[in-house]
Amino acid sequence: MNRNFLWGGSTSAFQFEGGSNEGGKGISFYDAITLSSKKASESMESWMGSNKVKDYSTTSDFYHHYKEDIALLKEMGFSAFRMSIAWTRIFPDGDGRVNPEGIHFYKDVFKTLKDNNIEPVVTLYHWDMPQSLIDRYYGWYGKETIEAFKKYVDVCFMEFKDYVKYWLTLNENNLTPMLPSFGTGKKVSKDSPEYLPFAYEVYHNTNIAHFYAVKRCHELIPDAKIGCMIASSLAYPLTSAPEDVLLTRNHNQKLTYDYLDLLTTGRYTPKNCIEIENSGSDIHKRDVDLFTHPLSKMDFISFSYYYSVCVGEEQNAADENAQTMQMMYMALKNPRLKQSSFGWTIDPLGIRILLNDLYDRYQLPLMIVENGLGVKDDVLTEDKQVHDPYRVEYLRQHIAAIKDAVDTDHVECLGYLPWGCIDLYSASGDREKRYGFIYVDYDDNCKRYKKDSFYWYKKVIESNGEELGD
Ligand code: BG6
Repeated sequence: MNRNFLWGGSTSAFQFEGGSNEGGKGISFYDAITLSSKKASESMESWMGSNKVKDYSTTSDFYHHYKEDIALLKEMGFSAFRMSIAWTRIFPDGDGRVNPEGIHFYKDVFKTLKDNNIEPVVTLYHWDMPQSLIDRYYGWYGKETIEAFKKYVDVCFMEFKDYVKYWLTLNENNLTPMLPSFGTGKKVSKDSPEYLPFAYEVYHNTNIAHFYAVKRCHELIPDAKIGCMIASSLAYPLTSAPEDVLLTRNHNQKLTYDYLDLLTTGRYTPKNCIEIENSGSDIHKRDVDLFTHPLSKMDFISFSYYYSVCVGEEQNAADENAQTMQMMYMALKNPRLKQSSFGWTIDPLGIRILLNDLYDRYQLPLMIVENGLGVKDDVLTEDKQVHDPYRVEYLRQHIAAIKDAVDTDHVECLGYLPWGCIDLYSASGDREKRYGFIYVDYDDNCKRYKKDSFYWYKKVIESNGEELGD
């Protein structure tokens, strides 16, 4: 691995930061879930007994633990840490008034990271849409939200430019065409003629947000690097039947390449243009100057990779245990590979394939900003240890595959930042699905404990990926 390779880990504000009622923070989409659950609990006790997440107000409480957390990351040898900024901590209502306490908080976090030689990698938008923008403009559906986002990113770049050199725009935005209602609060039935124009409008608005952020970052912080962040859903044909191969290539094009083709060329693909036109929308004709501006070209591509899927004509049972955001592709089980206890297929070679595919196709540096094993198997023993050999095994195999991609296949990879390096709340709505090297005891003031994988990852980083253990 290159000596400058970034070793670290990754988080997001709504799953990790907490402090939702403090420091002048406004209400995000997730805080609104908390508030309505609390209201509901007055008449219904049952939700308290469930471990399904209905309260995002504290999560892992990074807000109060960040100094301790950064010391732990330093001890592991991290050179990079991914986190997101909560939009509502900067603009409590999404637009209008700036919250100086929010600026102060993030400045202190970034400064503490830099003082410990850890590079902040900052996502501008990780799903926590300000509720006020949802209420007033249907979030990403409204043009006003784009204007609000522009002001928000301008403030972030101006305020944090001395500390942050790696920026990510919108988390997993390649999923937006599949989930246009997310972040809008607007439900349009899939069968309605309004659905496609609605979905295209939302998608286009998020694309304006992306291109604007890239351009402004280049204007305001010339020495910074900014990239997109996509959810990978690498698919293999279930069989060698050409029908399965066709379905698979369509899956990969639709879920990954349509989006990246747009971000790298500034234009919707010719096929997308016809589909857009047929739906009655005209998004492909708008904002071309911004999308194709030389400063709107991103510097790298970042992605999450947890598993691969199979696609084919024969429906061999999509996994029922894996009803999570990622499994909505209705993909099929791979008969040759094992699955985690959470039902996700474990495929280390897949990350090497994906790195090669993306690099060959776009010739941009890549950054792995999510990977890891999320399971409910971690147990905090009486003497406060967590033995997680399954996590070490998963990560070891994936890092070995990444090394092969870099050292043997010559893929340019900037870094490896596995997900939830300190335990955080899962986006699938289950706080006991854990990914971390550090255990967070949610029932005892969010106390932190090092898992066995902590010591293992420390050695991996110390040896720049050479010592992966047996
Ligand atoms: C990605 C998201 O989709 O996957 C994260 O960017 C999420 O926010 C992660 O937490 C893992 O998914 P889950 O459902 O296990 O939390």
